[in-house]
Amino acid sequence: MQINHGSTNTETSPTDRLPDHFHRLWNMKVAEQIRAGVDVVRLDVGSPDLPPPDEVIAQLRQSSLDPDKHGYQPILGPDALREAWVGMYARTFGVSLDPATDVLPLLGSKEGIFLLTMALVDPGDIVLVPALAYPTYEAAARFAGAQIFRVPLKISNDSYLELDEIPPDIAQRSRLLWINFPHNPTGATTTFRGLRQCLEFCCQHRILLCHDAAYAQVTYGEYPAPSMLQLAGSRESAVEFNSLSKSFNMAGWRAGVLLGQHRALSAVAKLIPNLNSGSFGPINDASIAALQMNEEWILNRNEVYRERRDFLLRTLNGFGCEARTPEAGLYVWARTPEGWGSLPFTSEILSGAGVSLVPGTVFGPGGEGWFRISLTAPPERLEIGVERLKSWWLRNLQ
Ligand SMILES: Cc1ncc(COP(=O)(O)O)c(C=O)c1O
Repeated sequence: MQINHGSTNTETSPTDRLPDHFHRLWNMKVAEQIRAGVDVVRLDVGSPDLPPPDEVIAQLRQSSLDPDKHGYQPILGPDALREAWVGMYARTFGVSLDPATDVLPLLGSKEGIFLLTMALVDPGDIVLVPALAYPTYEAAARFAGAQIFRVPLKISNDSYLELDEIPPDIAQRSRLLWINFPHNPTGATTTFRGLRQCLEFCCQHRILLCHDAAYAQVTYGEYPAPSMLQLAGSRESAVEFNSLSKSFNMAGWRAGVLLGQHRALSAVAKLIPNLNSGSFGPINDASIAALQMNEEWILNRNEVYRERRDFLLRTLNGFGCEARTPEAGLYVWARTPEGWGSLPFTSEILSGAGVSLVPGTVFGPGGEGWFRISLTAPPERLEIGVERLKSWWLRNLQ
């Protein structure tokens, strides 16, 4: 799969430059169906349906009984939370971090992606984004008045960016390169080789490499996916985002982190106190409990997703829908039927079959002809959803 698109932007107002957020608009379409009496099966969002570990809930309960935990907390995260991230990175990736300087807790990694861009990108700069990518990288860049350049992406279990396709004048004006492995939406992974190529390119061109590792602990094979911080020299030129949202089924809790280059962390740390007042104390304590969970809990949880993935792929292939086998992450990336664009197809499946999917174009123009199915629904809902899709497919395409 090879995708390549350039992009410019000429609007002036920051919010005018923001593309409409897909889920905001799509949720209105879904609500319309629900109002009309349709029992919509939601296989669009990547919000885990499984609960966080029992230990996490117990800690939340206990901390919420402590009157001292209800006031403002340290805005840039309590020391114990920073230390818990350090402990998790040491156990999981063998990486040694300094809690005082290498770790910045965030209210979710999405917030951090936006803030990092606000802090480091000026109007007229370029932000390098993979050809298929989580939309917040582009939205933040546009809001900052930057242009984006989409870097072609080779998708496999050894994915890499085609960095040679970046013209020298674009590289020279670029401030950030975003990468995200395991990859949303395709579930593709990379190896140290792929990460190292990006790091070398960024060092050479003085670009900050931003690795979004939101799915590093949701993998189906080798465990876990690599961290950028395992590479020698990464802390001078790279940052890594991580989050409890997918790793510990805590998407609603808003607990993420930014790790790595001190200059980038300091810039974001300067912005944060103007925007929020830290996370809720009991959430901080429960996040520490999550970060101290053993590997077995994660392996067992990943096995649940693997069963769902295998069921979904078997069924899709059975009725002739081509789909990629993800090595990691929460999604299956599948082809629309011949002659169907992504948005017309997913709109038709919503109104004609009562199943909500994500059109591939949400992740960039290269997603045309694809759609994303989320594995974050209980088996019975997943079965109903895929059976409806199958009936529609057989009725309309045979
Ligand atoms: C690639 C990627 N990065 C970041 C996020 C945001 O995660 P968080 O809940 O930590 O803000 C998501 C959420 O779906 C994602 O898919």
